Amino acid sequence: MHVYALFAHPSKESFTAEVLERFTRGLKEAGHSVQVGDLYEMRFQTDMDAGQYERETGFDPEAPVPEDVRAEQAKIDSADGLAFVYPLWWSDCPAKLKGWFDRVLTYGYAYWYDSSGERAAPRMDVQRALVLCAAGHTIEHLEETGIVDSMRHVMLEDRLLGVGVREASLEILGGMVEKNADIRRRNLDRAYELGRTFWQASQN
Ligand SMILES: Cc1cc2nc3c(=O)[nH]c(=O)nc-3n(C[C@H](O)[C@H](O)[C@H](O)COP(=O)(O)O)c2cc1C
Repeated sequence: MHVYALFAHPSKESFTAEVLERFTRGLKEAGHSVQVGDLYEMRFQTDMDAGQYERETGFDPEAPVPEDVRAEQAKIDSADGLAFVYPLWWSDCPAKLKGWFDRVLTYGYAYWYDSSGERAAPRMDVQRALVLCAAGHTIEHLEETGIVDSMRHVMLEDRLLGVGVREASLEILGGMVEKNADIRRRNLDRAYELGRTFWQASQN
C-alpha cells in the first residue's frame, strides 16, 4: 500500500520532524511505500489567489485547477492512504497545511453538486487517513477544554471524511511542553507503531 504523508513544520530539528521520521520508518518496515510532501520545503503556495477563488465559487466541476494543485491531487490519486503530520498551533494545524486544504480540496474533486443540486460523490477516493499531531498540552487538557472534539469535527469529519476519505483517525502526541524524556520517548514509540499498524483496523 502507498501513503502520501503531508508534513507541515518549518524545522527539520523539531519534535514533529522526529515524529515524521518514526512514523515513515514504521510504515516502510511494515512493507509499505510512502511519499512525503514537505509543504515548507516545497514552498507550497497556501494563499488562495483571486483566480482560484473565482474558480471555486464558479461551481464548474470541469474548470481547470492551478498546476501545483493538480500535482497534489495526482499524488492523492496515486496513494491508498494519507497522513498529516504537524504541530498543534493555536488549537489547529499550521496555516501552511490549512492553505493546502483550502487550495487542494477543489470543487469537482473533493465535493460537487449534480444538476439537481444534490451533493454528488467526490472524485477523490482514499481508503484511510491518519492525523498525527504533536501538542504541548496533555491529551487530558485538550479533551477537557473541547479542543480534541473540535479537531475531530474539523480535521476528520469536515476536511477528510466529508470529501472522499473512507476512514480517518486522529492521534495526538501530547504533553510535550513538559520537556520530559519519558513522554518524548513514548510519543515517538507511538508514532512508529502507528506507521507499522497504519493498514490494520482503526484504533480510535
Ligand atoms: C505558534 C505555536 C502555537 C502553539 N499552540 C499550541 C496549542 O494551541 N496547543 C498546544 O497544545 N500546543 C501548542 N503549541 C506547542 C506545540 O504544539 C508543541 O510544542 C509540539 O510538540 C510541537 O513541537 P515542535 O515544534 O518541536 O515540533 C504551539 C507552539 C507554537 C510554536
